[in-house]
Amino acid sequence: MAQAGFVLWFTGLSGAGKTTLTEALVPQFKARGLNVEVLDGDEVRTNLSKGLGFSKEDRDTNIRRIGYVARLLARNGVASITAAISPYAEIRDEVRTAVEADGVKFVEVYVQASLDTLVARDVKGLYKKAIAGEIKQFTGVSDPYEAPLNPEVQVSSDNQTVEQSAALIVAKLEALGLLPTTAALAAKA
Ligand code: ADX
Repeated sequence: MAQAGFVLWFTGLSGAGKTTLTEALVPQFKARGLNVEVLDGDEVRTNLSKGLGFSKEDRDTNIRRIGYVARLLARNGVASITAAISPYAEIRDEVRTAVEADGVKFVEVYVQASLDTLVARDVKGLYKKAIAGEIKQFTGVSDPYEAPLNPEVQVSSDNQTVEQSAALIVAKLEALGLLPTTAALAAKA
């Protein structure tokens, strides 16, 4: 039987590691025969959500669009990975409900990282600007982030390597029957 699609929904602050984890997982999923598509926040905002800002209303619209596309792909057998901050629990749950109503599994992954770590790392230089007040409504600094209460997986870039976090996600997907185990693949070969 063909592998079922699913939605792997990352949530976490900017710079927490959502995109990095996605990049680590995609080749692993492909190696196990999955069709994969990625909806990355930064990329979506240059096309599908071009023109949207960072008010609650615009973020909600952005997340609903990402959720909609991820759902369509997943119900057609694709492993849809989303990597947007998605700061509001209510909208994440709304997407989850819509996905599950289609009989598709929704796997929420909370990529936790302390603000101290993110400010120290500041890969894009945005935290410095946000703290200086040069960027308004910056998530985690001057705008809310609602951590999930019951994510299927929680990882932390504070004290895990990318490989360790990716392995936790792979193990969860295997346990849910969404990713064939290497043993199952070997038996088929
Ligand atoms: S979301 O809130 O709508 O889910 P999304 O993941 O698409 O956000 O975009 C977040 C990215 O936009 C950040 O990684 C950062 O590069 C950039 N960005 C620019 N302004 C902001 C802001 N005010 N808050 C958060 N991220 C911002």
